[in-house]
Amino acid sequence: MEYRNFVLKGDICYSKTLNSLVTAENSFLVCTEGKSAGVFSQFSHIPLPYRQFPCIDYTGKLIIPGLVDLHMHAPQFAFRSLGMDMELLEWLETWAFPEEAKYQDTNYALRSYRALVEDLQQGPNTRICLFGTVHVPATLLLMDLLEKSGLVCMVGKVNMDRNSPDTLREEDAARSAASTQVWLEQCGTYKNCKPILTPRFIPSCTDELMRRLSDLQQRYGLPLQSHLSENLREIAWVRELCPESSCYGDAYARFDLFGDRVPTIMAHCVYSESEEIALMQRRGVYVAHCPQSNMNLASGIAPARRYLEAGLSMGLGSDVAGGVHTSIFRAMTDGMGVSKLRRCMGACDEAPLTLEEVFFLGTQGGGSFFGPVGSFEAGYEFDALVMEDPHPVPPFPLTLRERLERIVWCSDERSILRKYVRGIPVPGFSNPVR
Ligand code: GUN
Ligand code: FE
Repeated sequence: MEYRNFVLKGDICYSKTLNSLVTAENSFLVCTEGKSAGVFSQFSHIPLPYRQFPCIDYTGKLIIPGLVDLHMHAPQFAFRSLGMDMELLEWLETWAFPEEAKYQDTNYALRSYRALVEDLQQGPNTRICLFGTVHVPATLLLMDLLEKSGLVCMVGKVNMDRNSPDTLREEDAARSAASTQVWLEQCGTYKNCKPILTPRFIPSCTDELMRRLSDLQQRYGLPLQSHLSENLREIAWVRELCPESSCYGDAYARFDLFGDRVPTIMAHCVYSESEEIALMQRRGVYVAHCPQSNMNLASGIAPARRYLEAGLSMGLGSDVAGGVHTSIFRAMTDGMGVSKLRRCMGACDEAPLTLEEVFFLGTQGGGSFFGPVGSFEAGYEFDALVMEDPHPVPPFPLTLRERLERIVWCSDERSILRKYVRGIPVPGFSNPVR
């Protein structure tokens, strides 16, 4: 095992629960076999066997859990920031679909995915759920690159057999399912990069395809990711396509592709109402809240406070390229921002999200989809960032919580000094400033 045993010394912050943030100044975080053994305020409090581990001194630096992106589109990274004056369906037709069709060409995919993976290695996210494209070779290539990157990812070969251009659409349900099976047979050996079933969204998938995907889900025991209730025109379209479904979520549930025994992430959920919320709650479906994308594509503002109150599992997503920024710090601050706007726009009973809450969502909230991930409580997998206070540091004293607040709002890649995933330093990570 290449797992490391070591201790980090520094100013440690992590979430215990949604509302409780632990701030431990000048403390010791123990990593054993790639897992946290807890945080200790003094060296002498560290259990004896761990005291012999090498102690790396980051006095004066912050140590926080790695961030988790529950939703992004790998092939859209290349065109981030373009077409941001369109709404979802027009933007898909104009930008997303034509660009994704290019991934038929593996050379194009290689160039583009290399740039994406380098960006992800240098940024603050340690766990990511990604959509690929419909193409098996390009999706395997993406998984190869991610496997070597040191990050832990779930990647989906996308399924779509209707309502998209001939250049991208799979010929029919049988062929879409068959190539999904070919993909699954070829990606079984990765350690860090696992497959996740990825029907794009209901308008892209026939009933016959959904039935076949449900069979594959059962045969391979796969998790699933898709989109839900993002945009009003999309929702009206789903109602037309699936008149028998009582809500958009039910259109997945009818095929047993909506939580329960299928670990499921649904991106956006801007317009989920009580029936859909109850279905998600009962079936343990995760919401990937993607505030920047919701603004850029003028989708609306997801009622994150309502979802927290309903006890839904929730994390944050960049939704690149609906979102422009891969960093989940940006999703945290956008999450706070849009929750305040929602309140101003009439949702008077919905309190804005706090720093503690968005920090939880971007670490442990999304991390729990991967297991015990996103905290430093003993037993959690050791994903950690060592961060420097963003410059210029103000000329007055700051509490550790305030320093974390500055990290969330104003840090960038220059602030990240070290990045560990499961106790292993991310291989390509290099901070050019240090
Ligand atoms: N719904 C279906 N496909 C997509 C996509 O690529 N991006 C977003 N934001 N929503 C979608
Ligand atoms: Fe998306």
